[in-house]
Amino acid sequence: MALKLTSLTFQHQKFLSVALPPVTNLRAPNVFMASTLRSCSKEVENSKKPFSPAREVHVQVTHSMPPQNMEIFKSMEDWAEKNILVHLKPIEKSWQPHDFLPDPTSEGFFEQVKELRERSKALPDDYLVVLVGDMITEEALPTYQTMLNTLDGVRDKTGASPTPWAVWIRAWTAEENRHGDLLNKYLYLSGRVDMKQIEKTIQYLIGSGMDPQMENNPYLGFIYTSFQERATFIAHGNTARLAKEHGDMKLAQICGIIASDEKRHETAYSKIVEKLFEIDADGTVLSFADMMRKKIMMPAHLMYDGRDDNLFEHFSVAAQRLGVYTAKDYANILEFLVGRWNVEKLTGLSGDGRKAQEYVCGLAPRIRRLEERAQGRAKQSSIIPFSWIFDREINL
Ligand SMILES: [Fe+2]
Ligand SMILES: [Fe+2]
Repeated sequence: MALKLTSLTFQHQKFLSVALPPVTNLRAPNVFMASTLRSCSKEVENSKKPFSPAREVHVQVTHSMPPQNMEIFKSMEDWAEKNILVHLKPIEKSWQPHDFLPDPTSEGFFEQVKELRERSKALPDDYLVVLVGDMITEEALPTYQTMLNTLDGVRDKTGASPTPWAVWIRAWTAEENRHGDLLNKYLYLSGRVDMKQIEKTIQYLIGSGMDPQMENNPYLGFIYTSFQERATFIAHGNTARLAKEHGDMKLAQICGIIASDEKRHETAYSKIVEKLFEIDADGTVLSFADMMRKKIMMPAHLMYDGRDDNLFEHFSVAAQRLGVYTAKDYANILEFLVGRWNVEKLTGLSGDGRKAQEYVCGLAPRIRRLEERAQGRAKQSSIIPFSWIFDREINL
C-alpha cells in the first residue's frame, strides 16, 4: 500500500476530495461499471447535463458482504433495540429549528430578523462559503437515507419496518432533517448569500447522489457513518467557534446544537462497529482497512452549482484553510476510531486480518507525515469566485 499512498496527492487542496483509484475487490460477487463521465472542458454546457454534472464515479461493487453474515445483523436486533435506539432523543425533548429562529408569529419578528441580519454582517465571505457548503451537505439528506437503505441486513424494507435497524434509520433521518432546515432558514434570513444558487446546488447534489463505496455492506456502511458523524461533529463545532469569534452568538448556538446531535449519532454508529468487532473481529478489521484504503469521501463530494466543475474541491479547500475540517482532522478521527475500537489490541486474527490491523494502526501517523510535507511545500494560492456569495472571490 505504500506505493498507493505515496502516489496520492496529500497536498491539502487535494486531500479531502480526491479518492484513491478504485480497488479491485475480489470479495465482491457483483461488479459492474457505472457510467464514468468526466468533463474535460472548463466551460460547462448545461444543456448537455440537465440533471447531473459530469463526475467520475468508482467501479460500483455491490453486495460484498457474504450472505451468511446477514444472520449477524438479525442476531443483533435485540441488542440494537436496547443499545442503539437509546441514542435517539425523544421528539418531545428535541430542539426544533423554530427554537433558534425569529418567531414569525411574534410582534418582534421584524426586529429579530433585523438583529440577525446585523449580526451576520460581521461574517466574512470565506466563513459564509464554508457554512453554506455545510448546509448544502445537510440538505442532501434524502441521499443519506437512501444510502443506509442500500445496506444488506439492516435496510428499511417497507418504509415502516419495525426492526430496530429500520427504526434507527428513519429516526436518525428525522433528527438530521432539522440540521439543513435550521441552517437554511438562518442563511436565508441573513440576506448574505445567493439562495437561488444554493438551492440549485442542492437540487444538483440530490440528483447526483453520492459514491462512498459502501457496497451494500453494513460493515463498511457503519464504519463510514462512524467516521462521518465525527467529521460533521468537528466541522459544526468549528463553525460554532468561528461564529462566536465573529460575534454572532446565535449562529454559534445553532452550529453548536447541530454538533451535539452529530456527536450522539457518532456514539451510536461507533457502538455498532464496536459490537461487530466483538462478534467478527476479522471481518470488521478487514472492512475498516478496506474503507480507509478507499478513503472516506465526504457526503457532498458530487456537489455542483451549474458553474464550477470543481466546486466540492474549492469548498474543501476553503474548509481546510479556515480550520473547519482539515487533513489533520481526518487523521485524528482515524486515530480516535482505532483507539475507540481497540484495534491495536485485537488478537486471534487471520493473516489478512493482521495485515489490515497493521495498516489501519499505522495510517494516521503516515497521513500526518504526508500532510506536514505538503504543508512545507510552497503553496500557490488561487482566487476563486463562489456563486453562493454572488460570485465574490475568496482566497484559497
Ligand atoms: Fe447533520
Ligand atoms: Fe450527522
